[in-house]
Amino acid sequence: MIYSRIAGTGSHLPDRIVSNHDLEKVMDTSDQWIRERTGICERRWAAENVTTSDLAEKACLNAIEAADVDPAEIDLFMMGTTTPDLIFPSTACLLQKRLGLPDCGAMDVNAACSGFLYALSVADKFIRCGDAKKVLVCGAETLTNITNLQKRDTAVLFGDGAGAVVLEASEEPGILSTHIHANGNHADLLATKVGIARGWEGMEENGGKPEIVMKGNEVFKVAVRTLGRIVEETLTANGLEKADLDWLIPHQANLRIIAAMARTLDMNMDHVVVTVDRHGNTSAASVPLALDEAVRDGRIQRGDMLLLEAFGGGFTWGSALIRY
Ligand code: UT7
Repeated sequence: MIYSRIAGTGSHLPDRIVSNHDLEKVMDTSDQWIRERTGICERRWAAENVTTSDLAEKACLNAIEAADVDPAEIDLFMMGTTTPDLIFPSTACLLQKRLGLPDCGAMDVNAACSGFLYALSVADKFIRCGDAKKVLVCGAETLTNITNLQKRDTAVLFGDGAGAVVLEASEEPGILSTHIHANGNHADLLATKVGIARGWEGMEENGGKPEIVMKGNEVFKVAVRTLGRIVEETLTANGLEKADLDWLIPHQANLRIIAAMARTLDMNMDHVVVTVDRHGNTSAASVPLALDEAVRDGRIQRGDMLLLEAFGGGFTWGSALIRY
């Protein structure tokens, strides 16, 4: 039996830290509201000329170095992002050249905040069926490009960043299972409402760029319900109990959602990797960023049982159970 094992992790954040107090000065909001409703204290914003591929490149190089692999050995590159540099070529293709990857398959997956888990799931399948031995998987976003910084309901939530892993074929687990789902019935609750088919009107307010529109309260309720179901599905698929988990590495949208998942899993918050306080919501980047942080600071050790989960626009949701 072939499994995919995480050989190395990496991440990258832009230097600019934007605190809640910085936002108080430019919009009608308060540090107290943001902390109480979301758990966010600060987030990182990329400089104007920095793109998703720029952040992703650094995260991928860190992961390649940690895995100690030659980029020429990578035989698939999966990239989860909602903020690609261009409509096409894909961000993965743009990066393939910059990272020195061979002419392997390279593709973007657009599954909003679940993008990394979708990309990881595809990568895992390629390795399990024997079609790839080493796969680079990245989640990266410059959400500030699609956030209207005049609108407090979304402006305080999002941040920029990138995280990556190198997976390699192994006889030992590894990724035990991945689970991905979608339900397009709620597409309008969280979306950017311009595009090739709808046209580009209405972007004047956001300096000519698309903007995220979200009915936060409704998304919140569906997210908690849906994530509760997928963690159950993941444990059941592997015949495991809640107590078998060592770490929860959740999507970082809201500390209240994360805490609800910890309660569902009877897990102490000490075993939950939380970055939302410092990163805000970085969509597809949030799970690999949190994973890399906890691997590098030594909290996550080889042999630990990890549950990764995410929920986002689409709606999409996904999970992975990993023996690290
Ligand atoms: O990552 C993909 C998935 N996304 C999520 O999972 C996000 C899920 N949703 C959430 O995290 C929360 O719904 C939010 C953090 C977005 C909002 O929190 P909430 O507790 O659901 O607040 P709300 O939207 O119901 O708004 C409550 C009040 C409103 O005022 P009124 O109508 O009660 O007077 C808003 O106008 O808070 C007001 N408000 C703000 N006040 C200060 C909204 N944004 C702000 C703000 N500062 N930034």
